[in-house]
Amino acid sequence: MVFYIFAGFIMERVVSGIRPTGNLHLGNYFGALQNFIKMQETHQCYFFIADYHLLTTHPNPADLHNNVKHVVVEYLAAGLDPYKSAIYLQSDLPETAEMYLLLNMNAYLGELERSASFKDKIRTQPNNVNAGLLTYPVLMAADILIHKAHKVPVGKDQEQHLEMAREYVRRFNNMYGQEFLVEPTAFNFGEKLIKVPGLDGTGKMSKSESGSNAIFLIDDDITIEKKIKSAKTDLGPQGMNTPFSPEIENIFLLFSLVSSPETLKFYQEKWNNGEEKWYGGMKKQLTEDMINFIKPIRERIKDLYSNDEYLGKVLKHGAELAQESGAKTVREMREIIGFKKFY
Ligand code: TYM
Repeated sequence: MVFYIFAGFIMERVVSGIRPTGNLHLGNYFGALQNFIKMQETHQCYFFIADYHLLTTHPNPADLHNNVKHVVVEYLAAGLDPYKSAIYLQSDLPETAEMYLLLNMNAYLGELERSASFKDKIRTQPNNVNAGLLTYPVLMAADILIHKAHKVPVGKDQEQHLEMAREYVRRFNNMYGQEFLVEPTAFNFGEKLIKVPGLDGTGKMSKSESGSNAIFLIDDDITIEKKIKSAKTDLGPQGMNTPFSPEIENIFLLFSLVSSPETLKFYQEKWNNGEEKWYGGMKKQLTEDMINFIKPIRERIKDLYSNDEYLGKVLKHGAELAQESGAKTVREMREIIGFKKFY
């Protein structure tokens, strides 16, 4: 097994990616990107934009290109450093597609159909249940295994996909009788994988039709204020020391991400004491803390967005690093499988 050695330490490899569905929101940031930024200091990192994965939704070419640009810009604005991480487009490493084909031979229909994300897509886009959706976890496994990653920083919703990737590693290694592929683990610095809730009180934060369920890294101050103002709450605590209602639990989780522990404690005490009429003040505080968190990122996004030359350099460099690592894995995998050259 090849490890990179940095200042005498063995560096583990890290891979993760985000689909270019548009601007990134707090779920993407706290579920994934925040960990990317920390891990690049101590790990050998490969972070990509999952543009092949987006094809399952049939984007038009101009939207695909624009959305890819948003993610590259927002990766950099949030703090990814092209000198510390390989930042690249998934489609700039086409060997991923070959690895996907090879792994597909050991991925079984029953388990693919049982994947929660596939079931979800059948429900949400019944008119476009394509084969790419079914084998989505296999492509994701290819992204990870192609760099023999040890750790994969992702949010809670990706946990099952990571389990599937681990299974494909075991199958491949068993089939060919050698420890060639590496079993990756899902990772979060807080130890538990997280799910950032949406503002409408239901499920996870994600891009919605109206856009009001999510706070985006690009949102301006007024938009943030409006969204937090309309975030779902309840009728107030129904007594002392009662458990949080789901809506208030969500608001407190958002507090825990962008506010100080003292602020969190201040409002927690109000809840525990069963106090009335403090939600307005709480939302104002959350708005202020959220704006302080987002504003510097938003300003960097604006600066970077017009710098196509720099973005091009970053992605070219990232593609070269990804090629170096990924093409080698696929070449070796071909040999193990028995593809031998006759010339
Ligand atoms: P995607 O693009 O849906 O989301 C990107 C990352 O953001 C995390 N995330 C969240 N985390 C916490 N709370 C939320 N509300 C929330 N919403 C999104 C996701 O868990 C993810 O980490 N299949 C992946 C992209 C992908 C990938 C990979 C990831 C393709 N290949 C290989 C890791 C490794 C996806 O669709 O993520």
